[in-house]
Amino acid sequence: DTVRKVPRGALIVFEGGDRCGKTTQCSKLVERLRSQGVDAVMWRFPDRSTSIGAAINAYLAEQSHLDDAVVHMLFVANRLEKREEMLRLLAGGTTLVLDRYSYSGVAYTAAKGLPHLSIEYCKSVEVLLPAADLVLHMTMTAEATAARGGYGQERYEKVEFQKKAMEAFEALRDERWAVIDASGTIEDIHQQVVAVTEPVVRQALAGRALGRLWD
Ligand code: TMP
Repeated sequence: DTVRKVPRGALIVFEGGDRCGKTTQCSKLVERLRSQGVDAVMWRFPDRSTSIGAAINAYLAEQSHLDDAVVHMLFVANRLEKREEMLRLLAGGTTLVLDRYSYSGVAYTAAKGLPHLSIEYCKSVEVLLPAADLVLHMTMTAEATAARGGYGQERYEKVEFQKKAMEAFEALRDERWAVIDASGTIEDIHQQVVAVTEPVVRQALAGRALGRLWD
């Protein structure tokens, strides 16, 4: 048809269990994209710098108790408060590399196994945000991540819970997801990440439309 295609940034999301190396890979990917002349920035969710983020941080550090449905909504609100800026950056041609996003929101809450907080419910309260162009799903066993330094400091860093979150991630996978074996070296993983990301960034620049979550 006659719709004009506008170049835009890509929305690239890293997901996976705690301590699987997402943050390291996000930084390396942004560095690599910039070295290729792509305008790219890295964000993390939860964004702990906002007042909602501070409430989430206290909850994760087990300094506060919150109802499970309430904390779920705080994570959602923490993304919604960044929605406008996100859309503005993408439309302006900046590629966003996210260390967790709505997929973590759904997977971690659903992993609690509470009937009123099902995957379907969690998806239904998070429909105003753009879908990722690519989800890099970093996979590793819960036992292997538990052996890593610093594990166990936050609320969800428990092997049984992590296993359930990992199962929930698997249930969310679709054709926009790429599975990355997170047990290799930082450099090997980075090469796999670059290979799947670069074509997606090019498609966004060529004007492929941004999707909506769960569509
Ligand atoms: P982080 O360690 O990547 O900062 O993530 C903090 C924890 O919060 C991690 O255990 C995953 C969890 N989480 C949720 O439960 N819901 C969400 O929406 C997000 C983004 C993270």
